[in-house]
Amino acid sequence: ESTLGAAAAQSGRYFGTAISAGKLGDSAYTTIANREFDMVTPENEMKLDATEPARGQFTFTNADRIHSWAVQNGKRVRGHTLVWHAAQPGWLQSLSGSALRQAMIDHITGVMDHYKGTIYAWDVVNEAFADSGGGRRDSNFQRTGDDWIEAAFRAARAADPAAKLCYNDYNIDNWTAAKTQGVYTMVRDFKSRGVPIDCVGLQAHFNSGSPYNSNFRTTISSFAALGVDVQITELDIQLAPAQTYAAVVNDCLAVARCTGITVWGVRDQDSWRSSDTPLLFSGSNKKPAYDAVLNAL
Ligand code: XIL
Repeated sequence: ESTLGAAAAQSGRYFGTAISAGKLGDSAYTTIANREFDMVTPENEMKLDATEPARGQFTFTNADRIHSWAVQNGKRVRGHTLVWHAAQPGWLQSLSGSALRQAMIDHITGVMDHYKGTIYAWDVVNEAFADSGGGRRDSNFQRTGDDWIEAAFRAARAADPAAKLCYNDYNIDNWTAAKTQGVYTMVRDFKSRGVPIDCVGLQAHFNSGSPYNSNFRTTISSFAALGVDVQITELDIQLAPAQTYAAVVNDCLAVARCTGITVWGVRDQDSWRSSDTPLLFSGSNKKPAYDAVLNAL
């Protein structure tokens, strides 16, 4: 196969990218994006501040731009993200307790209603665990009570039963990390109690501070063994070593329930960490990492 999407499809998987609405007018960008990828994640446009800037007033202009572009070009969409401690509008930050809990549920319902039946998977909750220690991150949502995550997933299932519901986080790639174990324990608990969760998103932002570890495959297979799909949702690797990119692809392919891989941007210049040159394209050129990924798929 000659594109990432087509190569991934040979094993029933997808290969996606983050897309920015502001770049859809750049034909060099859309040419690569349209040719190579068959799954799209809006990089920022579906976040809380973008979709509900004032309470109960939903705005989907930029999110719809990406969603329409994806659908018109035959691609699926990963919804990112419904509940996160970051990118919160001021009105949400000023709430607490039961008012905040209700606002969270109303937000989930409002956004998911708008896209009902058209989203492959939603990152329902993003980055709820602390960087160290294996427990929850402190946040306004966390202060409404430990059950806020399951409340979010139950509201999400009610809003769109067709979407897969994911928990998504970073630095849960290394199987031995306390954070990974904390998320694993939560997912195991959710599955045992019937809390509706379908997938775990491993962001996979690899760099010198949080490097790729060969136990990544154990992480993927361990989550999958709990009865959830696993997706690599925001892959980028500092300096884009071809071998590491290939290893990540091979780890996903080794686990039947690893259903797809998304890189966090098209070209290095599009990356949130552009100085790391962590992606598969430089300008319109395919980097060595691109060839390594294509060969591995
Ligand atoms: C990042 C975007 O790439 C940036 O453009 C934005 O300024 C901040 O957010 N984890 C996530 C993503 O779940 O939403 C983040 O995206 C990167 C880390």
